[in-house]
Amino acid sequence: MKILIIGAGMYVSGRNGTGNGTILSALAQTSKHLPIEEVCITSPSAGNAIVVSEASARINKLLGTELMVRFEVLESSIPNLASYDLAIVCVPDHLHHQYGKMVLESAVHCLMVKPLTPTLREAMDLEAIRQQKQVYAAVEFHKRFDEGNLLAKRMIQEERLGQISYIAVDYSQRITIPTEIFRQWAEKSNIFQYLGIHYVDQVYFLTGYWPKRVSAIGTKNTLKSMGIEGFDSVHVMSEWVNPKTGQELVAVFNTNWIDPRTSTSMSDQKYRIVGSKGRLDLDQKNRGVEFSSHHEGVLSINPYFSEYMPDADNQHYDFGGYGHKSIVQFVQDVAALKAGRVSANALAGLRPTFKDCLPATALVEAANLSLSKNGNWHQIGGNF
Ligand SMILES: NC(=O)c1ccc[n+]([C@@H]2O[C@H](COP(=O)([O-])OP(=O)(O)OC[C@H]3O[C@@H](n4cnc5c(N)ncnc54)[C@H](O)[C@@H]3O)[C@@H](O)[C@H]2O)c1
Repeated sequence: MKILIIGAGMYVSGRNGTGNGTILSALAQTSKHLPIEEVCITSPSAGNAIVVSEASARINKLLGTELMVRFEVLESSIPNLASYDLAIVCVPDHLHHQYGKMVLESAVHCLMVKPLTPTLREAMDLEAIRQQKQVYAAVEFHKRFDEGNLLAKRMIQEERLGQISYIAVDYSQRITIPTEIFRQWAEKSNIFQYLGIHYVDQVYFLTGYWPKRVSAIGTKNTLKSMGIEGFDSVHVMSEWVNPKTGQELVAVFNTNWIDPRTSTSMSDQKYRIVGSKGRLDLDQKNRGVEFSSHHEGVLSINPYFSEYMPDADNQHYDFGGYGHKSIVQFVQDVAALKAGRVSANALAGLRPTFKDCLPATALVEAANLSLSKNGNWHQIGGNF
């Protein structure tokens, strides 16, 4: 298996001491069970060569693997793109369409980090190319692999919550995200588009409802005072409809990226589902692991996202968690596709395929339009 990664940032390689990087760690872990000939990471900055070689050496040592990773400076085109078995696109949100298109037009299977694209038009364009080229494409919506969310899905399917009235989401991150970590592209995105979309997709994944209309407002204060143009917080009210029964539910999202840098975790995330038979509360930050130290302060640790754990022989670490599962699932699916054991069409509806991610894309685009018009309701007329 030959794998291309476009982008060499935090999520790929854990640049600037932000950790070990989920994507490269997940691929190295996968190489313990599935032959991966090589991984090529490409990004425009030549300086990333050292970041990539240090990250791969660190990860291989931790996991006891020998994953071959090389770096290439990204020019206007990618040499031999069609020779890769799959590509993972991990660049800032506004570039997803440009690089997704490049990958799909070369008939290469594509995993895109979220959000698929900021607009429905771009997402539909990618889906059309995917169909034309007969390849498989999915979005790395790892929350679909979180056991807490899978339990919620099962409970909804078993009708233990009854008819759902509303879902309320609170999701925020430390102020270091827009001011330091993603400073270069924070003004081109916003907290709801870049992060809130995870739970927009969850509403669709859990219920199968389609978004119908949306109103969004935001606040501008803290970031503006620091010279950053953009919303501190985005608040979204949305109505969804069951395409089979016509029943409706409301989903409310409160998102911000101005939490104090002293917050006990990078992401604070909780949601509640209220139905006619009961309610389900999911605290996805406080997973029961709290660490206090003289040097690091107090940390709420989520060991279930993507973490290194001692392996069964205590010789090396294994990389696991729902972040890892989402990436390894894609690699395994591509291996199954190449072996003819499954078809891209058979995966539709079972995975976060591009087509399956159109409802979340439509809602985020409509929320952005509403945000620019003081919260005016925006209708989403899609038949997904
Ligand atoms: N960090 C996370 O936990 C996380 C998780 C899931 C998804 N994502 C998504 O991944 C994407 C990137 O996130 P990140 O954390 O790696 O960001 P990052 O800012 O650390 O890295 C972005 C990468 O894109 C490259 N890049 C910038 N401009 C480019 C251009 N014009 N052409 C090609 N490459 C370019 C940069 O060189 C860098 O390697 C975003 O869409 C984000 O929403 C991030």
